[in-house]
Amino acid sequence: MVETTPATRPANPRFSSGPCAKPPTFSLDKLADAALGRSHRAAIGKSKLKNAIERTREILGVPADYKIGIVPASDTGAYEMAMWSLLGERPVEMLAWESFGSGWVTDAMKQLKLDAKVTTAEYGQIVDFANVNFDHDVCFTWNGTTSGVRVPSKDSIPAERAGLTLCDATSAAFAMDLPWDRLDATTFSWQKVLGGEAAHGVLILSPRAVARLESYTPAWPLPKIFRLTKGGKLIDGIFEGATINTPSMLCVEDYLFALDWAESVGGLKGLIARADANADAITAFVDATPWLDFLAEDPATRSNTSVCLKFNDSRITDGATFAKAVAKRLETEGVAYDIGAYRDAPPGLRVWCGATVETADIEALLPWITWAFEAEIAAQSQAA
Ligand SMILES: Cc1ncc(COP(=O)(O)O)c(C=O)c1O
Repeated sequence: MVETTPATRPANPRFSSGPCAKPPTFSLDKLADAALGRSHRAAIGKSKLKNAIERTREILGVPADYKIGIVPASDTGAYEMAMWSLLGERPVEMLAWESFGSGWVTDAMKQLKLDAKVTTAEYGQIVDFANVNFDHDVCFTWNGTTSGVRVPSKDSIPAERAGLTLCDATSAAFAMDLPWDRLDATTFSWQKVLGGEAAHGVLILSPRAVARLESYTPAWPLPKIFRLTKGGKLIDGIFEGATINTPSMLCVEDYLFALDWAESVGGLKGLIARADANADAITAFVDATPWLDFLAEDPATRSNTSVCLKFNDSRITDGATFAKAVAKRLETEGVAYDIGAYRDAPPGLRVWCGATVETADIEALLPWITWAFEAEIAAQSQAA
């Protein structure tokens, strides 16, 4: 017997981990000032791009001597650009604890053919940073979007180091305090925590990363969309809004709107508080629910954005089928879209808790998870 459904539905059922929910105040007419049909190199286009860079710096607290560029191909483009442009000068360590980090390992080993040291951890765990040599270049993902495991503390990375750190921060930026003095090349996409549009990446470079770019030329060819230097000098324009190729001015307007919204909720502090409140609501639910656990084993590593959950009940016969069916029920009811675990991750649910999600919607979702779980247990025993 399927239980009666909970009384309240989330006002917004969008809990996807990317593209993530738009800011609550979003509507398409908010983009009416977009510089559409104008050159991105005209004064109006350039000033919007520059504005996007400057306000990213302000909200994220990026130091004045770091460079911020808007680059092609979303976070993947930004991170690949960093790897292809910076690596190869010294030994490399690749760290991975879920599928996106593993993807960077594959590229470093199979495409760049680097003889890198690879350290991995299972889904739910994290690597031991004490065993990493930060005099080497180190590549890692701050928040593993597919396992909900994040770097526990800035102290995992030493402030003094000879190597560069290349940090994929796409599901961390605007939700976590990123320690800029420990990060040399940091990337994210607009489609994540601020609920912007995909296809544009942001690359943030420390002075030491810039020094590497200006003193070292990789052995491999670099396609035009990866090239950050010309004649051994950084192409400064890229970091002032003169993008490498044509950006979508509609996406730029959308990002500027998202930055306005970020400021309206108190900037980075307000964004982090919103994500924390969402994740705390889930923690209270998990603590009170015997059949549900976090995938992240150590509470210090638990994400406040991509919260990954696993079912833990001896009545479940096939974990993957069960979790998919629960997610399907929630989607069919229109109470939660896209919350099945990532395709390569262990079976379960993944609920996005970034700042654009309202805590009231997370709270409204939780009884529905219980409803769907019980309905699925009942359906499974009927089928048996
Ligand atoms: C940690 C991480 N890296 C990279 C990506 C790829 O991002 P994009 O599709 O914006 O390039 C994602 C997307 O979810 C991600 O979560």
